[in-house]
Amino acid sequence: ASLELGPYRHFMQKEIHEQPRAIADTVEGILDAGGFDAALFGKDADAVLADVASVQILACGTSYYAGLTARYWIEAIAGLPCAVDIASEYRYRSVVGNPKQLVVTISQSGETLDTMEALKYAKAQGQDKTLSICNVPESALPRASKLVLHTRAGAEIGVASTKAFTTQLVALFTLAVTLGKLRGRVDTAQQADFLNALRHLPGSVQHALNLEPQVALWAEKFAPRQHALFLGRGTHYPIALEGALKLKEISYIHAEGYPAGELKHGPLALVDTQMPVVVIAPNDALLEKVKSNIQEVRARGGEMFVFTDADSSFSASEGVHVIRTPRHVGILSPIVHAIPVQLLAYHTALARGTDVDKPRNLAKSVTVE
Ligand code: G6P
Repeated sequence: ASLELGPYRHFMQKEIHEQPRAIADTVEGILDAGGFDAALFGKDADAVLADVASVQILACGTSYYAGLTARYWIEAIAGLPCAVDIASEYRYRSVVGNPKQLVVTISQSGETLDTMEALKYAKAQGQDKTLSICNVPESALPRASKLVLHTRAGAEIGVASTKAFTTQLVALFTLAVTLGKLRGRVDTAQQADFLNALRHLPGSVQHALNLEPQVALWAEKFAPRQHALFLGRGTHYPIALEGALKLKEISYIHAEGYPAGELKHGPLALVDTQMPVVVIAPNDALLEKVKSNIQEVRARGGEMFVFTDADSSFSASEGVHVIRTPRHVGILSPIVHAIPVQLLAYHTALARGTDVDKPRNLAKSVTVE
């Protein structure tokens, strides 16, 4: 095992650091197929995707958070309504079948039982436009789907998903642009911009990884705490959820992710000097709103840990710590901001001495109900 780990202490750490490569490989697959071309998703893709009227995403765990992020892209770029459901909820709901809806399952393993059953249920409602975004070729979900886009993260061993998540986001962004192109909403110049953004992504992710020593210092402050709150808005709201999930999974610190706009509707009651509040606040249309949310937390004595980017005017102050990614990467920003929250969870777990790669009670792939 030590050989496979190379210079790393854990598979999770190794897999976090493999992300520039995993993303570059996934992007290369997209470029090889000629960019945002329907054929990327399989030979029948033109016919299946042509008259899609809405999208239904189904997944569990971290893959579900990839789906939540994708909804913002599918709505904004493809102009399609998009629902995202936890597979174990969807499969027991009375869903209304819609043959023009594209059913997208997202899974690292391709074997998660609830996601598989949710797909079968959707098909039983007459939905036969099915697409699987999956990291394991020939697994159950891609086999049961008409269209497939493989993430090229390589084998993921750590129970807490990292490189599978960021490559899923790349695949989902590509799906959003491809649907937008088919619908005549994304012109050639925009396609070129989006391709360029994907090409630069591995470099931006590497820059985020270089923040590891700073994030590790923050982790020392988190290690003795019992609770943590993660806030974000827009595409960074699911990244807040993912940050909270990662922290609870591997460090066993109770953590919650919240859309920052919901602060006043509950979590603000929990804020005190003992609960660190992480904010994912890059420069986007919602930055000013996030700033006012931060003021609300500060006014209650909460200590803030803000991840932001080069373009934002954010500065550190009393009780407000700031780590800044060196680039502003626009629409792909949630992918870059997934990195520091992974690192924060990893280093906090390290400081607490938990079993990072095999957290108690959890399994890599949940193939039972
Ligand atoms: C488990 C894993 C998670 C993963 C989830 C969904 O809970 O610990 O890391 O996100 O299953 O798995 P899938 O293979 O379907 O993505």
